[in-house]
Amino acid sequence: MPCTVVAGGFWGDEGKGKIISYLALKDGLDFCVRTGSVNAAHTIWFQSKRYALHMIPGGFVAEKCRLLIAAGANVHVAQFLKEAEQTGVKNRLGVDRQASIIEEKHAAQDKASEHLKALGTTGWGVGPAIEERVRRTAKLAKDVPELASYVTDVALETNRAIDEGKNVLLEGTQGLLLSLFHGSYPYVTSRDTSASAICSEVGVGPTKVDEVMLVFKSFVTRVGTGPLPEEISKEEAIKRGWFETAAGTGRDRRSAPFNFELARRAAMINGATCLAVTKLDCVFPGCQGLRVYERLPLEAREFIKRTED
Ligand code: IMP
Ligand code: MG
Repeated sequence: MPCTVVAGGFWGDEGKGKIISYLALKDGLDFCVRTGSVNAAHTIWFQSKRYALHMIPGGFVAEKCRLLIAAGANVHVAQFLKEAEQTGVKNRLGVDRQASIIEEKHAAQDKASEHLKALGTTGWGVGPAIEERVRRTAKLAKDVPELASYVTDVALETNRAIDEGKNVLLEGTQGLLLSLFHGSYPYVTSRDTSASAICSEVGVGPTKVDEVMLVFKSFVTRVGTGPLPEEISKEEAIKRGWFETAAGTGRDRRSAPFNFELARRAAMINGATCLAVTKLDCVFPGCQGLRVYERLPLEAREFIKRTED
């Protein structure tokens, strides 16, 4: 902090939600700004309750944190209102006036497209919604009466907060390898997911950022189609305790061992200044519940050291 960008290092599902909610409480976050769209689900456990948030920023766990949705984001109005209710954060929630809107027709177009089906999209309609935005015919947040009480200037609020020395977190979604520019095209999502793009979606310049935290999981997962180097079978994944299903769509996640080469590239493109590594206990037995680095098994410490290097 004060201004930290949190980005995913692989194909999403690294545990960004967990890390963001942890930072929100630990650092007493003042502002949390979410980018991206409804295709992403950030899983957060808070007060024994599980949240899979598609719209509301993960910083909601910090009581006084202002929660914003960036100009570059795409808002699914029904999902937004549902989660606002569920998390009880209406009085501290804002949406940029220029955020674009995802509509039912976009989901229908997504599901009807053979091409998008072959890419294994989430079916939420984010690709078609972005196409509409690029055509410059999209509906924006300022045009939607249900959003009227939330509409604000997120770039102005965020930059002011940074200038006042507040703790600000810019919340990325998905991971670098799903980036439209830097990922495994065409098996990617419809936006750039890198740290620079997260800043651009919010309207924060590169000189205003202090930290870029890149989140990795101790093994790699991928949902949908496209290449996954060193992929293991579902049976093997179950045996290793790596098997997961998607928080949003419930689909099986494919898995592979941690990939240092890809991690190095992700650190480079994101300009990472620090890393968070999740699920260490799934790869190195004996880590569960430990909070002190020195107590970790040797193998786990060596893995962390190598990742850091
Ligand atoms: P779309 O973003 O729904 O168009 O899907 C394009 C690709 O990105 C598919 O492979 C999806 O599985 C993947 N994808 C999109 N959002 C997420 C996410 O939040 N986590 C993991 N994969 C995602
Ligand atoms: Mg997810």
